[in-house]
Amino acid sequence: MSEDVYRAPKGTHDVLPPDSERWMDAIATFASRARRYGYGLVVTPIFEHVEVFQRVGASTDVVRKEMYEFEDKGGRHLALRPEGTAPVVRAYVQHRPTPPWKVWYLAPHFRYEAPQAGRYRQHWQLGAEVLGVDDPDVDVEVIDLAHGFYRDLGLTKVRLLLNSMGDATSRPGYLDALRTYLLDHAEPLGPEFRERVEQNPLRVLDSKVEAWQDVIERAPQLTEYLSDDAAAHFERVQEGLDSLGIAHELSPRLVRGFDYYTSTTFEFASDALGAAQNAVGGGGRYDQLAEDMGGPPTPSIGFGIGIERVLIALDAEGTGAPAESRLDAFVIDGVGDGSATVLVAELRADGLRADRAYGGRSWKAQMTMADRSGARFAVILGRQEAERDAVAVKDLESGEQRELPRRELAGWLQAQVEDRSGIRGATR
Ligand code: HAM
Repeated sequence: MSEDVYRAPKGTHDVLPPDSERWMDAIATFASRARRYGYGLVVTPIFEHVEVFQRVGASTDVVRKEMYEFEDKGGRHLALRPEGTAPVVRAYVQHRPTPPWKVWYLAPHFRYEAPQAGRYRQHWQLGAEVLGVDDPDVDVEVIDLAHGFYRDLGLTKVRLLLNSMGDATSRPGYLDALRTYLLDHAEPLGPEFRERVEQNPLRVLDSKVEAWQDVIERAPQLTEYLSDDAAAHFERVQEGLDSLGIAHELSPRLVRGFDYYTSTTFEFASDALGAAQNAVGGGGRYDQLAEDMGGPPTPSIGFGIGIERVLIALDAEGTGAPAESRLDAFVIDGVGDGSATVLVAELRADGLRADRAYGGRSWKAQMTMADRSGARFAVILGRQEAERDAVAVKDLESGEQRELPRRELAGWLQAQVEDRSGIRGATR
């Protein structure tokens, strides 16, 4: 392989300042909302025994073809997390917290995919899961959490697509009907089509293969096969969303990519992104998964949101105000007696963003650094001002300069700096 080894591996990327500010804003916005909804943070290992993931998607490419699998030095067969739900369920089954267990996470995910805009081999997800409740009101809460997050960020072109995958009673009848229908139409579509149908007919429905679309369009729809219970559940979810004013579109062919989905499934699609990568988030119920992993019956629901795609959607909508990353004050040390160290520390203790030059640089060099730093003000510690226990403050936008008694400096700066919500507001 002739790749430059001193570059980030194909399909991965670095996140650097100042762009990383927008990451922090997105994460803090999500964390703040999740906390208000009563969700606690869960952190699971970046790798698991490979069986944890095999459970969730024997028929999905993410698990069959795209996993980063390896053997460790102790001979364990492990895989880097390709998706976030299975590790959370594994943790639930292992620790048995009292249900309902409401958790959120932020984690890198790994899929050996063909990289393109919005599709990476390492991507990051913000996600939430509620384990142990069957109530359709929980489906509504979970969808509302994700929906509110997009709204907090200012995204307006995100549509909610909704479907039901039915329950254990409705699914087998539908799968039979779908398989029969697809096999009836398999002849002209080649061996891969037939193979997929035989493996899992649902995997055909979410295929993007152009030549298959005609047959897919006319396939029987799961919602026509729902049992009374499954239909009532789905009805209640829709009513709940209506009561919160959350617009949604029924999308009968939305089957989502993992085998664990049951009942309510949903996806958030951004019209600001290209059709192939327009999913900025998705999720659904997985009422059997905990049992499949040896746990008690645990009806559950959750979602994952791709951070990179959300940021691309913000750019595309032009709504992602650049995060406020600049400093409030850059301290210029014209005295050299150590008082700059104390002043910077005081400003930071007062909640201001302050920095300074190091290395005994000239006055001019420090002023240049202050300009480059993007700070709003330069705070100048000069000898004459020091005698009066004062500092000079220069507005780096207007060039206006004034002298202030040193004890008034922090208060004055605070009054100038508008309230910057984002990170500081959200983590308080
Ligand atoms: P997923 O639909 O595979 O679901 O991924 C969730 C989101 O992650 C996608 O909607 C997309 O925004 C982002 N994403 C996925 N793959 C990539 C990629 N290669 N590059 C960039 N972004 C990507 C899950 O992973 C489920 N665990 C979600 C879930 C949670 N269902 C129930 N609970």
